[in-house]
Amino acid sequence: MKSQFNDSSITVAVVGCGGFVGSHLLDAILARTQWRVFGVDLDFYRIQHRLRDERCEFMVADLADKSVVERIAKYPVVVNLAAICTPSRYMAEAPEVIRSNYDHPASLADACAKSGSWLIHFSTSEVYGRTSADAGLLVEDETPLTFGPVTASRWSYATAKLLTERYIAGLKNLKWTVVRPFNFVGPYMDFMPGVDGSGIPRVLANFSSALVRGEPLKLVNGGVAKRSFTSVFDAVDFMFALFEAGLAGNSVENDAGKSPFSQAFNVGNPDNEVTIAELAYKMRRIFAEIKCVDVESIPGPETVSGEEYYGEGYDDSMRRLPSVEKAERLLGFKAQTPIDVVLRESLTWFVGHYSNTSHPGTDSASS
Ligand SMILES: NC(=O)c1ccc[n+]([C@@H]2O[C@H](COP(=O)([O-])OP(=O)(O)OC[C@H]3O[C@@H](n4cnc5c(N)ncnc54)[C@H](O)[C@@H]3O)[C@@H](O)[C@H]2O)c1
Repeated sequence: MKSQFNDSSITVAVVGCGGFVGSHLLDAILARTQWRVFGVDLDFYRIQHRLRDERCEFMVADLADKSVVERIAKYPVVVNLAAICTPSRYMAEAPEVIRSNYDHPASLADACAKSGSWLIHFSTSEVYGRTSADAGLLVEDETPLTFGPVTASRWSYATAKLLTERYIAGLKNLKWTVVRPFNFVGPYMDFMPGVDGSGIPRVLANFSSALVRGEPLKLVNGGVAKRSFTSVFDAVDFMFALFEAGLAGNSVENDAGKSPFSQAFNVGNPDNEVTIAELAYKMRRIFAEIKCVDVESIPGPETVSGEEYYGEGYDDSMRRLPSVEKAERLLGFKAQTPIDVVLRESLTWFVGHYSNTSHPGTDSASS
């Protein structure tokens, strides 16, 4: 084990610790290091198994609360995962989405700049905006970031995330790293509508829910948009590569060529690019294999319009293919997990977790 991972004097604050990425990160920190964790979230239902861990302190709290922000910023490393990040809410609750993705993280950034903490802020690949079907690789410090019109409230989330990136980058004395996830997927993602959540979850839980319920998978606007899906376990490995580089004594001043500070990183897997329709057919096939049934016995996908499915203000980016050169060059990190492997892992978990629950026939799937 690397020496910094053995250092039991390190406490990492993980905000949004009870969420999808947070729960995996927490498990990995406890398994791979001697560190302590200060975990903050609005609730911790996903991480019940960790609540009594003696290396953890958990606080049910809202990042909107300034006293909570001050408390978090006392720790030397702060990972901020907290966000409203469910696409259906970008249209229906734009002001709340903007407060969550700009106001709260900006005040955390101010506090970290004051205390000297290293802020690792989770942004999004949505900052690349309304990319066209023929968009090439999205490169962190080169690709223009272009959003749709202000009437397309879909862009509330991406706009707020980008403003936070700019705010963080503009703060004097802040030690920061920005992470731009490209469609992380894995076990424990989101919820099953009507069972342990309401509204429309992200595409993996969306399609998984429809499969478990025996309903058709809904393809928004034909499912022609392309995404690159990344295993959440690879995302966690990225975080360890980042921790290692950041805690190894690199600094903005002494190692400009290799420093992980003052950098935005794409975290994605360009080898796992598929259209949403291809994703649907893959998931249908894997689900049939898991259930040992004929794939033809499972309902095929159906097309639905974006406005009909998500409501007014819907818009989309047609392709999001990450350049991963920077993470490889600066951190030696490259995602490894093929899409079929992570989909099988995720669906196996989803089927096991939800098969014995009752399934009120509410909102089903899409992108
Ligand atoms: N998972 C992905 O593919 C993906 C893609 C792009 C961006 N991201 C970003 O990565 C981060 C983590 O994503 P995730 O998939 O784990 O999302 P998630 O919704 O599963 O987790 C976010 C957590 O933050 C908590 N939270 C929200 N508002 C809070 C507040 N005001 N105070 C305290 N806690 C609050 C939620 O309760 C939740 O547990 C988010 O910032 C998200 O925008 C993720």
